[in-house]
Amino acid sequence: MYKIRKDIVHRDDVSLLVRSFYAKVRRHETLGPIFNGKIEDWDSHLERLTDFWEMVILNSGPGAGKFNPVPVHKEVDRFTQNSITQAHFGNWLELWFSTLDTYFYGTNTDFAKEHARRMAHILFFRIMEGRGAKV
Ligand code: HEM
Ligand code: HEM
Repeated sequence: MYKIRKDIVHRDDVSLLVRSFYAKVRRHETLGPIFNGKIEDWDSHLERLTDFWEMVILNSGPGAGKFNPVPVHKEVDRFTQNSITQAHFGNWLELWFSTLDTYFYGTNTDFAKEHARRMAHILFFRIMEGRGAKV
């Protein structure tokens, strides 16, 4: 079957992206156990992450002011006994890019990649900084 890829332009597109991405994350050898261990209510997590990426990619939706990902990931790092590494972020980005490339193509798609890459740097740096600062 031939499927024409398009850009991310509606919340429905973001929802497809988020759901397909987390389906891969949950099956991933090293990411899966962390996400499945920490997240109890997947339906609301997926809605929340759709809000996040709709806000970032499309600048719309109910996400504005609702997110502060740095403390959330410091807490995830504590949950894993400080075992988050750069490899986790590398794997996360690989799954994000491959999901985007499966379904989408275009300016917003490129921005979704670039923004995640930037966030990965910041989140990893702040996790490491947090360990040193004994938060
Ligand atoms: C933890 C790190 C980050 C978080 C939580 C974050 C969060 C957000 C959010 C919530 C938005 C949508 C808000 C809006 O459009 O007004 C956004 C958009 C954007 N972000 Fe980030 N961001 C992060 C890192 C970065 C970095 C490091 C850069 C660039 C060096 C960047 C560049 C942008 C750009 C260019 C937009 C689009 C603005 C627009 O077109 O309206 N972000 N980000
Ligand atoms: C650039 C890479 C990443 C981005 C953009 C990202 C983004 C996010 C966002 C926006 C949330 C929701 C925060 C909230 O509910 O307020 C979240 C939650 C979460 N992230 Fe990430 N994340 C990234 C990498 C990772 C990695 C590498 C891991 C694990 C190794 C991870 C584990 C989690 C978990 C377990 C949650 C759920 C926390 C909870 O609800 O208790 N994330 N992430």
